[in-house]
Amino acid sequence: MRKTKKETFNPFNFIIFGGDGDLALRKIYPALFHRLYDGQITPDFQIFAICRRERSLVEFKKSVLDFISESGLEFGKSDMATVFLERIQLVQVSDYSPESYSYLKSALKLHPKAPSIFYFSTPSSAFGPIASALKENGLIDERSKVVLEKPLGHSLATAQEINSQVGAAFQENQVYRIDHYLGKETVQNLMVLRFANHLFEQAWNSQHIENVQITVAESLGVQSRAGYYDQSGALLDMVQNHLLQLLCLVAMEPPHKLEADFVRNEKLKVLYALRPFSKKNIKTQSVKGQYTRGKIAGKSVSSYLEDIEKFDSKTETFVALTAFVDNWRWKGVPFYLRTGKRMPKRYSEIVINFRPVAHNIFPSGEEIPANKLIVRLQPEERIELVQMTKIPGPGGYRYKPIALKLDFVDNFKERFPEAYERLIMDVVRGNQTLFMRQDELEASWTWIESITKNWKDVQMPVVLYEAGTWGPGQAVMIDDHVWNTKGYALD
Ligand code: BG6
Repeated sequence: MRKTKKETFNPFNFIIFGGDGDLALRKIYPALFHRLYDGQITPDFQIFAICRRERSLVEFKKSVLDFISESGLEFGKSDMATVFLERIQLVQVSDYSPESYSYLKSALKLHPKAPSIFYFSTPSSAFGPIASALKENGLIDERSKVVLEKPLGHSLATAQEINSQVGAAFQENQVYRIDHYLGKETVQNLMVLRFANHLFEQAWNSQHIENVQITVAESLGVQSRAGYYDQSGALLDMVQNHLLQLLCLVAMEPPHKLEADFVRNEKLKVLYALRPFSKKNIKTQSVKGQYTRGKIAGKSVSSYLEDIEKFDSKTETFVALTAFVDNWRWKGVPFYLRTGKRMPKRYSEIVINFRPVAHNIFPSGEEIPANKLIVRLQPEERIELVQMTKIPGPGGYRYKPIALKLDFVDNFKERFPEAYERLIMDVVRGNQTLFMRQDELEASWTWIESITKNWKDVQMPVVLYEAGTWGPGQAVMIDDHVWNTKGYALD
Protein backbone atom coordinates (compact mmCIF):
# COMPACT_ATOMS: atom_id res chain seq x y z
CA MET A 1 0.00 0.00 0.00
CA ARG A 2 1.15 3.55 -0.64
CA LYS A 3 2.09 5.99 2.05
CA THR A 4 -0.95 6.82 4.19
CA LYS A 5 -1.91 10.48 4.24
CA LYS A 6 -2.29 12.06 7.67
CA GLU A 7 -5.76 13.45 7.10
CA THR A 8 -8.57 10.93 7.39
CA PHE A 9 -12.30 11.45 7.25
CA ASN A 10 -15.26 10.25 9.22
CA PRO A 11 -17.70 7.90 7.49
CA PHE A 12 -20.05 9.42 4.92
CA ASN A 13 -22.77 8.28 2.55
CA PHE A 14 -21.97 8.95 -1.09
CA ILE A 15 -25.04 8.84 -3.30
CA ILE A 16 -24.42 9.07 -7.03
CA PHE A 17 -27.35 9.85 -9.32
CA GLY A 18 -26.32 8.63 -12.77
CA GLY A 19 -24.37 6.02 -10.81
CA ASP A 20 -24.04 3.69 -13.79
CA GLY A 21 -23.12 6.48 -16.22
CA ASP A 22 -19.90 7.00 -18.10
CA LEU A 23 -18.57 9.75 -15.82
CA ALA A 24 -19.27 7.81 -12.64
CA LEU A 25 -17.50 4.74 -13.98
CA ARG A 26 -14.54 6.54 -15.52
CA LYS A 27 -13.90 9.14 -12.84
CA ILE A 28 -15.94 8.97 -9.64
CA TYR A 29 -15.49 5.35 -8.54
CA PRO A 30 -11.76 5.26 -9.39
CA ALA A 31 -11.33 8.55 -7.48
CA LEU A 32 -13.03 7.18 -4.35
CA PHE A 33 -11.10 3.95 -4.66
CA HIS A 34 -7.73 5.73 -4.77
CA ARG A 35 -8.53 7.81 -1.72
CA LEU A 36 -9.40 4.58 0.10
CA TYR A 37 -6.25 2.90 -1.18
CA ASP A 38 -4.18 5.83 0.07
CA GLY A 39 -5.81 5.64 3.48
CA GLN A 40 -7.42 9.07 3.27
CA ILE A 41 -10.86 7.57 3.70
CA THR A 42 -11.52 4.52 5.82
CA PRO A 43 -13.67 1.60 4.63
CA ASP A 44 -16.73 2.58 6.62
CA PHE A 45 -18.34 4.81 4.00
CA GLN A 46 -21.31 3.73 1.91
CA ILE A 47 -21.73 4.27 -1.81
CA PHE A 48 -25.19 4.19 -3.32
CA ALA A 49 -25.10 3.99 -7.10
CA ILE A 50 -28.47 5.26 -8.23
CA CYS A 51 -29.63 4.17 -11.66
CA ARG A 52 -32.90 4.47 -13.50
CA ARG A 53 -32.99 1.00 -15.01
CA GLU A 54 -32.57 -2.38 -13.40
CA ARG A 55 -29.03 -3.70 -13.74
CA SER A 56 -27.10 -6.74 -12.65
CA LEU A 57 -24.98 -5.94 -9.59
CA VAL A 58 -22.31 -8.45 -10.65
CA GLU A 59 -21.90 -6.88 -14.08
CA PHE A 60 -21.96 -3.39 -12.62
CA LYS A 61 -19.21 -4.18 -10.12
CA LYS A 62 -17.19 -5.76 -12.90
CA SER A 63 -17.37 -2.49 -14.85
CA VAL A 64 -16.29 -0.53 -11.76
CA LEU A 65 -13.36 -2.91 -11.33
CA ASP A 66 -12.39 -2.56 -15.00
CA PHE A 67 -12.12 1.21 -14.60
CA ILE A 68 -10.12 0.87 -11.39
CA SER A 69 -7.75 -1.49 -13.22
CA GLU A 70 -7.43 1.04 -16.01
CA SER A 71 -5.69 3.36 -13.56
CA GLY A 72 -3.12 0.58 -12.93
CA LEU A 73 -3.57 -3.19 -13.15
CA GLU A 74 -2.14 -3.69 -9.66
CA PHE A 75 -4.94 -1.56 -8.21
CA GLY A 76 -7.66 -3.74 -9.75
CA LYS A 77 -5.99 -6.84 -8.30
CA SER A 78 -5.45 -5.42 -4.82
CA ASP A 79 -7.40 -6.53 -1.74
CA MET A 80 -8.50 -2.94 -1.41
CA ALA A 81 -10.42 -3.27 -4.68
CA THR A 82 -12.51 -6.05 -3.10
CA VAL A 83 -13.04 -3.94 0.02
CA PHE A 84 -14.09 -1.01 -2.18
CA LEU A 85 -16.59 -3.02 -4.22
CA GLU A 86 -18.21 -4.23 -1.01
CA ARG A 87 -19.04 -0.63 -0.12
CA ILE A 88 -21.22 -0.19 -3.22
CA GLN A 89 -24.95 -0.77 -3.38
CA LEU A 90 -26.87 -0.46 -6.61
CA VAL A 91 -30.22 1.27 -6.12
CA GLN A 92 -32.87 1.64 -8.77
CA VAL A 93 -34.73 4.96 -8.62
CA SER A 94 -36.88 5.04 -11.73
CA ASP A 95 -38.85 8.24 -11.13
CA TYR A 96 -39.36 10.98 -8.55
CA SER A 97 -42.16 9.28 -6.59
CA PRO A 98 -41.87 8.53 -2.83
CA GLU A 99 -42.00 4.79 -3.66
CA SER A 100 -38.91 5.11 -5.82
CA TYR A 101 -37.02 6.76 -2.96
CA SER A 102 -38.23 4.44 -0.21
CA TYR A 103 -35.27 2.03 -0.33
CA LEU A 104 -32.71 4.86 -0.30
CA LYS A 105 -34.55 6.45 2.59
CA SER A 106 -34.45 3.31 4.74
CA ALA A 107 -30.83 2.53 3.74
CA LEU A 108 -29.64 6.01 4.73
CA LYS A 109 -31.47 5.71 8.05
CA LEU A 110 -29.14 2.82 8.92
CA HIS A 111 -26.20 5.25 8.96
CA PRO A 112 -27.60 8.28 10.77
CA LYS A 113 -24.21 9.56 11.94
CA ALA A 114 -22.78 9.74 8.44
CA PRO A 115 -23.54 12.91 6.45
CA SER A 116 -24.85 12.43 2.93
CA ILE A 117 -23.10 13.67 -0.17
CA PHE A 118 -25.39 13.64 -3.18
CA TYR A 119 -23.54 13.64 -6.49
CA PHE A 120 -25.72 14.65 -9.46
CA SER A 121 -24.13 13.15 -12.53
CA THR A 122 -27.23 13.19 -14.72
CA PRO A 123 -28.34 15.69 -17.38
CA SER A 124 -28.83 18.97 -15.54
CA SER A 125 -32.54 19.06 -16.41
CA ALA A 126 -32.95 16.36 -13.74
CA PHE A 127 -31.12 18.29 -10.98
CA GLY A 128 -34.16 20.27 -9.84
CA PRO A 129 -36.57 17.31 -9.70
CA ILE A 130 -34.01 15.12 -7.88
CA ALA A 131 -33.26 17.87 -5.35
CA SER A 132 -36.93 18.39 -4.67
CA ALA A 133 -37.58 14.63 -4.33
CA LEU A 134 -34.71 14.39 -1.83
CA LYS A 135 -36.18 17.25 0.13
CA GLU A 136 -39.71 15.87 0.08
CA ASN A 137 -38.48 12.51 1.29
CA GLY A 138 -36.63 14.10 4.19
CA LEU A 139 -33.20 13.02 2.99
CA ILE A 140 -31.50 16.40 3.33
CA ASP A 141 -30.23 17.89 6.58
CA GLU A 142 -27.79 20.69 7.36
CA ARG A 143 -24.81 18.29 7.04
CA SER A 144 -25.78 17.23 3.49
CA LYS A 145 -23.91 18.41 0.42
CA VAL A 146 -24.69 18.26 -3.25
CA VAL A 147 -22.23 18.10 -6.13
CA LEU A 148 -23.46 19.36 -9.51
CA GLU A 149 -21.74 18.13 -12.65
CA LYS A 150 -21.38 20.34 -15.68
CA PRO A 151 -22.94 21.47 -17.95
CA LEU A 152 -25.24 23.41 -15.67
CA GLY A 153 -27.94 24.34 -18.14
CA HIS A 154 -27.40 25.54 -21.68
CA SER A 155 -28.02 29.27 -21.26
CA LEU A 156 -28.18 31.90 -18.53
CA ALA A 157 -31.92 31.35 -18.09
CA THR A 158 -31.66 27.57 -17.75
CA ALA A 159 -28.66 27.85 -15.39
CA GLN A 160 -30.66 30.28 -13.23
CA GLU A 161 -33.63 27.97 -13.22
CA ILE A 162 -31.52 24.99 -12.12
CA ASN A 163 -29.81 27.09 -9.44
CA SER A 164 -33.12 28.19 -8.06
CA GLN A 165 -34.58 24.66 -8.08
CA VAL A 166 -31.52 23.22 -6.35
CA GLY A 167 -31.48 26.28 -4.06
CA ALA A 168 -34.98 25.41 -2.86
CA ALA A 169 -33.57 22.22 -1.34
CA PHE A 170 -29.96 23.09 -0.47
CA GLN A 171 -28.28 26.22 0.89
CA GLU A 172 -25.52 27.75 -1.28
CA ASN A 173 -22.89 26.58 1.25
CA GLN A 174 -24.02 23.00 0.60
CA VAL A 175 -23.68 23.26 -3.19
CA TYR A 176 -20.49 22.19 -5.01
CA ARG A 177 -20.49 23.05 -8.74
CA ILE A 178 -17.64 20.97 -10.00
CA ASP A 179 -15.20 21.87 -12.78
CA HIS A 180 -12.55 19.18 -12.83
CA TYR A 181 -9.98 21.51 -14.44
CA LEU A 182 -9.69 23.30 -11.11
CA GLY A 183 -8.57 20.05 -9.50
CA LYS A 184 -5.68 19.49 -11.93
CA GLU A 185 -2.28 19.59 -10.30
CA THR A 186 -0.73 22.20 -12.60
CA VAL A 187 -3.77 24.41 -12.42
CA GLN A 188 -3.39 24.46 -8.66
CA ASN A 189 0.28 25.11 -9.09
CA LEU A 190 -0.59 28.21 -11.06
CA MET A 191 -1.90 29.71 -7.81
CA VAL A 192 1.34 28.86 -6.02
CA LEU A 193 3.44 30.12 -8.91
CA ARG A 194 1.60 33.42 -8.96
CA PHE A 195 1.08 34.04 -5.28
CA ALA A 196 4.06 32.37 -3.61
CA ASN A 197 6.73 33.90 -5.88
CA HIS A 198 7.68 37.53 -5.85
CA LEU A 199 9.18 37.37 -9.30
CA PHE A 200 6.12 36.71 -11.43
CA GLU A 201 3.54 38.82 -9.70
CA GLN A 202 5.61 41.94 -10.35
CA ALA A 203 5.44 41.36 -14.08
CA TRP A 204 1.88 40.05 -14.18
CA ASN A 205 0.18 42.90 -16.04
CA SER A 206 -0.24 44.62 -19.38
CA GLN A 207 2.99 46.51 -18.98
CA HIS A 208 4.96 43.28 -19.18
CA ILE A 209 2.65 40.74 -20.79
CA GLU A 210 1.82 40.93 -24.48
CA ASN A 211 -0.75 38.16 -24.63
CA VAL A 212 -1.99 35.04 -22.91
CA GLN A 213 -2.84 31.86 -24.79
CA ILE A 214 -4.94 29.13 -23.32
CA THR A 215 -5.26 25.98 -25.35
CA VAL A 216 -7.00 22.72 -24.69
CA ALA A 217 -6.52 20.44 -27.68
CA GLU A 218 -7.87 16.89 -27.66
CA SER A 219 -7.21 14.07 -30.07
CA LEU A 220 -10.43 12.32 -29.05
CA GLY A 221 -13.66 12.84 -30.93
CA VAL A 222 -17.09 12.89 -29.34
CA GLN A 223 -17.02 9.18 -28.38
CA SER A 224 -20.35 7.87 -27.12
CA ARG A 225 -21.70 11.31 -26.22
CA ALA A 226 -23.11 12.32 -29.61
CA GLY A 227 -26.52 13.38 -28.29
CA TYR A 228 -25.15 15.57 -25.53
CA TYR A 229 -22.28 17.01 -27.56
CA ASP A 230 -24.36 17.99 -30.55
CA GLN A 231 -26.56 20.09 -28.26
CA SER A 232 -23.54 21.78 -26.65
CA GLY A 233 -20.60 22.11 -29.02
CA ALA A 234 -17.10 23.12 -27.99
CA LEU A 235 -18.16 26.54 -26.69
CA LEU A 236 -20.51 25.20 -24.04
CA ASP A 237 -18.67 21.93 -23.43
CA MET A 238 -15.21 23.44 -22.83
CA VAL A 239 -15.07 27.25 -22.95
CA GLN A 240 -18.00 28.13 -20.69
CA ASN A 241 -16.41 26.19 -17.87
CA HIS A 242 -12.83 24.86 -18.17
CA LEU A 243 -11.21 27.56 -20.31
CA LEU A 244 -12.96 30.39 -18.50
CA GLN A 245 -11.89 29.01 -15.14
CA LEU A 246 -8.28 28.87 -16.35
CA LEU A 247 -8.58 32.43 -17.60
CA CYS A 248 -9.90 33.51 -14.20
CA LEU A 249 -6.96 31.97 -12.37
CA VAL A 250 -4.48 33.70 -14.69
CA ALA A 251 -6.23 37.07 -14.58
CA MET A 252 -7.57 37.42 -11.05
CA GLU A 253 -6.18 39.73 -8.40
CA PRO A 254 -4.51 38.12 -5.38
CA PRO A 255 -7.25 37.07 -2.97
CA HIS A 256 -6.88 38.21 0.61
CA LYS A 257 -6.67 34.57 1.76
CA LEU A 258 -6.98 31.19 0.13
CA GLU A 259 -10.54 30.79 1.30
CA ALA A 260 -13.54 29.97 -0.81
CA ASP A 261 -15.30 33.31 -0.91
CA PHE A 262 -12.17 35.42 -1.20
CA VAL A 263 -11.01 33.39 -4.21
CA ARG A 264 -14.46 33.30 -5.76
CA ASN A 265 -14.92 37.05 -5.33
CA GLU A 266 -11.74 37.65 -7.32
CA LYS A 267 -12.72 35.22 -10.07
CA LEU A 268 -16.12 36.86 -10.29
CA LYS A 269 -14.53 40.28 -10.89
CA VAL A 270 -12.64 38.83 -13.86
CA LEU A 271 -15.82 37.37 -15.33
CA TYR A 272 -17.58 40.73 -14.94
CA ALA A 273 -14.64 42.45 -16.66
CA LEU A 274 -14.71 40.22 -19.74
CA ARG A 275 -15.55 42.36 -22.74
CA PRO A 276 -18.79 41.13 -24.31
CA PHE A 277 -18.71 40.22 -27.99
CA SER A 278 -20.66 42.33 -30.45
CA LYS A 279 -21.88 42.02 -34.04
CA LYS A 280 -18.91 44.15 -35.00
CA ASN A 281 -16.15 41.94 -33.62
CA ILE A 282 -17.64 38.46 -33.55
CA LYS A 283 -16.34 37.56 -37.01
CA THR A 284 -12.82 38.79 -36.41
CA GLN A 285 -12.49 37.60 -32.85
CA SER A 286 -13.98 34.14 -33.03
CA VAL A 287 -13.75 31.03 -35.16
CA LYS A 288 -16.00 27.98 -35.17
CA GLY A 289 -14.79 24.76 -36.72
CA GLN A 290 -15.99 21.22 -37.29
CA TYR A 291 -13.77 18.23 -38.08
CA THR A 292 -14.02 16.22 -41.26
CA ARG A 293 -12.42 12.82 -41.90
CA GLY A 294 -8.70 12.63 -41.38
CA LYS A 295 -5.82 10.76 -39.80
CA ILE A 296 -4.54 10.85 -36.24
CA ALA A 297 -1.30 9.03 -35.38
CA GLY A 298 -1.52 7.20 -38.71
CA LYS A 299 -5.10 5.96 -38.11
CA SER A 300 -8.05 7.09 -40.23
CA VAL A 301 -10.85 8.66 -38.26
CA SER A 302 -14.36 9.57 -39.35
CA SER A 303 -15.88 13.01 -39.59
CA TYR A 304 -17.95 14.61 -36.84
CA LEU A 305 -21.11 14.17 -38.90
CA GLU A 306 -20.36 10.47 -39.34
CA ASP A 307 -19.59 10.17 -35.61
CA ILE A 308 -22.93 11.60 -34.60
CA GLU A 309 -24.81 10.06 -37.56
CA LYS A 310 -26.55 13.32 -38.32
CA PHE A 311 -25.50 14.94 -41.53
CA ASP A 312 -26.85 18.45 -41.25
CA SER A 313 -25.30 19.42 -37.91
CA LYS A 314 -23.59 22.79 -37.69
CA THR A 315 -22.28 22.19 -34.16
CA GLU A 316 -18.70 23.35 -33.62
CA THR A 317 -16.03 20.92 -32.42
CA PHE A 318 -13.41 23.68 -32.39
CA VAL A 319 -13.58 27.21 -31.14
CA ALA A 320 -11.03 30.01 -30.96
CA LEU A 321 -11.71 33.35 -29.32
CA THR A 322 -9.84 36.54 -28.66
CA ALA A 323 -11.02 37.78 -25.28
CA PHE A 324 -10.20 40.94 -23.36
CA VAL A 325 -10.40 41.59 -19.64
CA ASP A 326 -11.29 45.25 -19.34
CA ASN A 327 -9.56 46.35 -16.18
CA TRP A 328 -6.39 48.18 -15.17
CA ARG A 329 -4.17 45.14 -14.97
CA TRP A 330 -5.08 43.66 -18.34
CA LYS A 331 -5.85 46.67 -20.49
CA GLY A 332 -5.38 45.75 -24.15
CA VAL A 333 -3.91 42.28 -23.50
CA PRO A 334 -5.55 39.65 -25.69
CA PHE A 335 -6.39 36.31 -24.14
CA TYR A 336 -6.45 33.76 -26.96
CA LEU A 337 -8.64 30.83 -26.04
CA ARG A 338 -8.77 27.71 -28.19
CA THR A 339 -10.10 24.25 -27.88
CA GLY A 340 -10.85 21.52 -30.34
CA LYS A 341 -11.52 17.85 -30.77
CA ARG A 342 -9.66 15.55 -33.17
CA MET A 343 -6.46 17.59 -33.08
CA PRO A 344 -3.17 15.77 -33.73
CA LYS A 345 -2.56 15.20 -30.03
CA ARG A 346 -3.81 15.87 -26.51
CA TYR A 347 -2.14 19.07 -25.57
CA SER A 348 -3.22 21.65 -23.03
CA GLU A 349 -1.33 24.62 -21.83
CA ILE A 350 -1.37 28.21 -20.72
CA VAL A 351 1.29 30.40 -22.31
CA ILE A 352 2.10 33.81 -20.89
CA ASN A 353 3.92 35.74 -23.61
CA PHE A 354 5.93 38.56 -22.10
CA ARG A 355 6.87 41.69 -24.00
CA PRO A 356 10.24 41.78 -25.77
CA VAL A 357 13.14 43.72 -24.26
CA ALA A 358 13.01 47.42 -25.08
CA HIS A 359 16.19 47.56 -27.15
CA ASN A 360 18.72 45.07 -28.53
CA ILE A 361 22.29 45.94 -27.53
CA PHE A 362 23.76 42.87 -29.20
CA PRO A 363 25.47 42.94 -32.56
CA SER A 364 22.74 41.08 -34.47
CA GLY A 365 20.39 44.01 -33.96
CA GLU A 366 17.41 41.71 -34.57
CA GLU A 367 14.42 41.66 -32.28
CA ILE A 368 15.14 39.36 -29.35
CA PRO A 369 12.45 36.71 -28.81
CA ALA A 370 10.46 37.50 -25.69
CA ASN A 371 10.23 35.43 -22.51
CA LYS A 372 7.40 32.96 -22.15
CA LEU A 373 6.02 31.20 -19.16
CA ILE A 374 4.42 27.94 -20.17
CA VAL A 375 2.15 26.08 -17.81
CA ARG A 376 1.59 22.66 -19.33
CA LEU A 377 -1.46 20.82 -18.04
CA GLN A 378 -1.33 17.71 -20.16
CA PRO A 379 -0.25 15.25 -21.32
CA GLU A 380 2.74 15.74 -19.00
CA GLU A 381 2.51 18.37 -16.28
CA ARG A 382 5.29 20.90 -16.20
CA ILE A 383 6.18 24.55 -16.07
CA GLU A 384 8.75 26.14 -18.36
CA LEU A 385 10.24 29.58 -18.35
CA VAL A 386 11.66 30.34 -21.77
CA GLN A 387 14.52 32.82 -21.61
CA MET A 388 17.36 33.91 -23.83
CA THR A 389 20.74 32.33 -23.10
CA LYS A 390 24.16 32.83 -24.60
CA ILE A 391 25.32 30.02 -26.82
CA PRO A 392 28.63 28.99 -25.17
CA GLY A 393 31.95 29.36 -26.96
CA PRO A 394 33.53 31.87 -29.27
CA GLY A 395 31.74 33.65 -32.09
CA GLY A 396 30.59 36.74 -30.23
CA TYR A 397 27.28 37.14 -28.49
CA ARG A 398 25.09 34.48 -30.00
CA TYR A 399 21.98 33.57 -28.05
CA LYS A 400 18.93 31.39 -28.22
CA PRO A 401 15.79 30.72 -26.21
CA ILE A 402 16.25 27.95 -23.63
CA ALA A 403 13.58 26.74 -21.24
CA LEU A 404 14.10 26.43 -17.51
CA LYS A 405 11.97 23.40 -16.77
CA LEU A 406 10.14 22.27 -13.70
CA ASP A 407 9.09 18.78 -14.62
CA PHE A 408 6.65 17.31 -12.13
CA VAL A 409 7.20 13.73 -13.21
CA ASP A 410 10.97 14.03 -12.63
CA ASN A 411 10.76 16.00 -9.41
CA PHE A 412 7.84 14.36 -7.65
CA LYS A 413 7.86 10.59 -7.97
CA GLU A 414 4.58 9.81 -6.23
CA ARG A 415 1.44 9.12 -8.22
CA PHE A 416 -0.49 12.38 -8.73
CA PRO A 417 -4.06 12.21 -7.54
CA GLU A 418 -6.53 12.75 -10.37
CA ALA A 419 -8.49 16.00 -10.36
CA TYR A 420 -11.65 14.20 -9.21
CA GLU A 421 -9.85 12.71 -6.20
CA ARG A 422 -8.85 16.11 -4.91
CA LEU A 423 -12.21 17.69 -5.62
CA ILE A 424 -14.28 14.92 -4.06
CA MET A 425 -12.12 15.09 -0.94
CA ASP A 426 -12.70 18.85 -0.86
CA VAL A 427 -16.42 18.15 -0.87
CA VAL A 428 -16.02 15.70 2.00
CA ARG A 429 -13.98 18.20 4.02
CA GLY A 430 -16.36 21.03 3.10
CA ASN A 431 -13.97 23.30 1.23
CA GLN A 432 -15.72 25.19 -1.60
CA THR A 433 -12.67 27.11 -2.87
CA LEU A 434 -12.35 25.09 -6.07
CA PHE A 435 -16.05 25.09 -6.86
CA MET A 436 -18.05 27.69 -8.69
CA ARG A 437 -20.45 29.91 -6.83
CA GLN A 438 -23.84 30.66 -8.34
CA ASP A 439 -22.93 34.25 -9.28
CA GLU A 440 -19.74 33.06 -11.02
CA LEU A 441 -21.69 30.58 -13.06
CA GLU A 442 -24.23 33.20 -14.06
CA ALA A 443 -21.51 35.72 -15.00
CA SER A 444 -19.84 33.14 -17.22
CA TRP A 445 -23.14 32.40 -18.95
CA THR A 446 -23.75 36.10 -19.53
CA TRP A 447 -20.45 36.39 -21.38
CA ILE A 448 -20.98 33.16 -23.30
CA GLU A 449 -24.37 34.39 -24.42
CA SER A 450 -22.71 37.43 -26.00
CA ILE A 451 -21.03 34.86 -28.25
CA THR A 452 -23.97 32.55 -28.94
CA LYS A 453 -26.30 35.45 -29.62
CA ASN A 454 -23.93 37.16 -32.03
CA TRP A 455 -23.04 33.90 -33.75
CA LYS A 456 -26.73 33.51 -34.42
CA ASP A 457 -27.25 37.11 -35.50
CA VAL A 458 -24.40 37.11 -38.02
CA GLN A 459 -25.03 33.49 -39.01
CA MET A 460 -21.48 32.63 -38.12
CA PRO A 461 -20.19 29.95 -40.48
CA VAL A 462 -18.69 26.70 -39.23
CA VAL A 463 -15.36 26.22 -40.97
CA LEU A 464 -14.40 22.63 -41.71
CA TYR A 465 -11.00 21.29 -40.67
CA GLU A 466 -9.46 17.92 -41.27
CA ALA A 467 -9.22 15.63 -38.25
CA GLY A 468 -5.56 15.41 -37.25
CA THR A 469 -4.84 19.08 -38.02
CA TRP A 470 -4.67 22.01 -35.62
CA GLY A 471 -8.03 23.40 -36.65
CA PRO A 472 -9.29 25.76 -39.34
CA GLY A 473 -6.65 27.81 -41.13
CA GLN A 474 -8.11 30.95 -39.60
CA ALA A 475 -7.00 29.90 -36.15
CA VAL A 476 -4.01 27.73 -36.88
CA MET A 477 -2.64 26.02 -33.83
CA ILE A 478 1.04 25.82 -34.52
CA ASP A 479 2.89 23.27 -32.47
CA ASP A 480 5.42 24.15 -29.85
CA HIS A 481 4.29 27.38 -28.34
CA VAL A 482 4.62 29.49 -31.46
CA TRP A 483 1.00 30.29 -31.85
CA ASN A 484 -0.55 32.56 -34.36
CA THR A 485 -1.07 35.70 -32.34
CA LYS A 486 -2.56 37.87 -35.02
CA GLY A 487 -6.23 37.30 -34.31
CA TYR A 488 -8.63 35.38 -36.43
CA ALA A 489 -9.80 37.38 -39.40
CA LEU A 490 -12.24 35.28 -41.36
CA ASP A 491 -12.21 37.28 -44.53
C1 BG6 B 1 -15.14 17.37 -20.24
C2 BG6 B 1 -15.77 17.56 -21.59
O1 BG6 B 1 -15.66 18.29 -19.31
O2 BG6 B 1 -13.73 17.55 -20.33
C3 BG6 B 1 -15.17 16.57 -22.58
O3 BG6 B 1 -17.16 17.35 -21.49
C4 BG6 B 1 -13.66 16.69 -22.60
O4 BG6 B 1 -15.69 16.80 -23.89
C5 BG6 B 1 -13.10 16.61 -21.18
O5 BG6 B 1 -13.15 15.62 -23.38
C6 BG6 B 1 -11.61 16.92 -21.18
O6 BG6 B 1 -11.10 16.65 -19.90
P1 BG6 B 1 -9.57 16.25 -19.70
O7 BG6 B 1 -9.37 16.21 -18.24
O8 BG6 B 1 -9.38 14.92 -20.38
O9 BG6 B 1 -8.78 17.33 -20.38
